[in-house]
Amino acid sequence: MKGFSAVILAAGDGTRMKSSLPKVVHKLSGKPLINWVIDSLLPLKPDNIVLVLGRQSELVEKALGALLKEPSVKTAYQKERKGSAHALMQAQKTLKNYRGQILVLSGDVPLIKSETLKGLLKSNAKKGEAVTVLGATAQEPYGYGRIIKNGSSLEKIVEEKDASPEQKEIKEINGGIYCFSADIWKALSKIKPDNAKKEYYLTDAVEILKNSGKKAGFVLADGGYEVKGINSRAELAQAEQYVNALKIKSLLDSGVTVIAPNSVYVSSDAKIGQDSVLYPNVFIDSNVEIGKNCIIRGSSYIINSKIADNAEISYSYINGAVIGKNVKAGPFSHIRPHSVLKDGVKVGNFSEIKKSVVEKNAKINHLSYIGDAFIGQDVNIGAGAITCNYDGVKKHATFIGAKSFIGSNVNFVAPVKVGKDVLVAAGSTITKDIPSGKLAIARARQELKRKKTIKN
Ligand code: UD1
Ligand code: MG
Repeated sequence: MKGFSAVILAAGDGTRMKSSLPKVVHKLSGKPLINWVIDSLLPLKPDNIVLVLGRQSELVEKALGALLKEPSVKTAYQKERKGSAHALMQAQKTLKNYRGQILVLSGDVPLIKSETLKGLLKSNAKKGEAVTVLGATAQEPYGYGRIIKNGSSLEKIVEEKDASPEQKEIKEINGGIYCFSADIWKALSKIKPDNAKKEYYLTDAVEILKNSGKKAGFVLADGGYEVKGINSRAELAQAEQYVNALKIKSLLDSGVTVIAPNSVYVSSDAKIGQDSVLYPNVFIDSNVEIGKNCIIRGSSYIINSKIADNAEISYSYINGAVIGKNVKAGPFSHIRPHSVLKDGVKVGNFSEIKKSVVEKNAKINHLSYIGDAFIGQDVNIGAGAITCNYDGVKKHATFIGAKSFIGSNVNFVAPVKVGKDVLVAAGSTITKDIPSGKLAIARARQELKRKKTIKN
């Protein structure tokens, strides 16, 4: 196949989203819409990917992150939103001398597959068409442009707002993805905003190219979802449901138990090992890896984390943690960014761990706060013990050596270092380092006094 360049139209105002953000930065399964489109293009190795951006383009560029550094990715800007044809015109300068095929995609059509795009490029080249439109047969075609065909050739595309009642009955819709020859640039200059929305419609290029003696055709994608356009929150929610259902199905097929699929959300990039069990109401957000034989119980939320085999997480909130094998967290634990729980650690109810390393088999079972700390192997942290890591300006570290036993309600006023095999008495407030092997008591002595009897 000869080379091709892609243009992604992503400057639209997204009025129907009713959002202060550009439409294409809205996330589907944890990933911005525009990133979905680029990710499906990259395997096809386009010569160029020109992004046409509009309002608040800096937010789109931020969402793109590393993708913006891909050598093929370039940006063009549409200052005023005058329609999809006007948007494509903004890419003309970048592709001026480009003679290959031009694949135009919409930033709001995220579920398109690489294979389908490949098929579109192939069909366009094989039939020598000036435009090949990617469409689909939709059960609910409302809102889409309709494909008006003549046998296997394409006559024109009519937008919903300009369609006659008969045309509205047509179920073959324009997916908003097109493959053009370099003839498109000349055709664009002939498009006029003679329509209900007074916009320069890219879809009008079909008729113009045909009238100038060029060939126009279409390819239909399997199933409507691949070309589902996201124009409103309702459409975004439908797409989420669809992507989630696909993800859950693939997990079930790979040997993960999902007890109540309709109540579980799993981001499409999540990896979950065989024989793991997801209980109802689990929410696995983006960038999560879970090993084999894990149990994740109800109302747990996990994001940006790695969890090894045989872990058991119950009703917990886990963000940015690395969790070892056989770890038990919860019910109701909060594991915060940069926390590492090594194999066999137990973190119990109402315990919070932040930016701390907890070594093997340590236990932090009840009502603790461990922040900016190192907790050694086999340490036992008693109920209510906490690190006082913040002096109002800076954070300070606490170090607790292996096999130390920390009584209930101990406060470690950081920075402080506790040796190995130390015993800290319950209720102590530790402000000084404790050498290994010592018993530390830092609390007021109990006094016993005569009890006065109060008479009324
Ligand atoms: C468009 C198509 C419609 C198709 C549908 C598929 C047109 C005229 N209609 O309708 O036939 O069925 O997509 O989803 O193209 N954009 C710009 N600048 C603009 C206007 C739009 O960059 O000035 C971009 C948008 O960001 C979007 C794409 O072009 O990615 C399509 O625009 P949108 O307003 O979503 O058009 P639809 O009504 O969905
Ligand atoms: Mg759209």
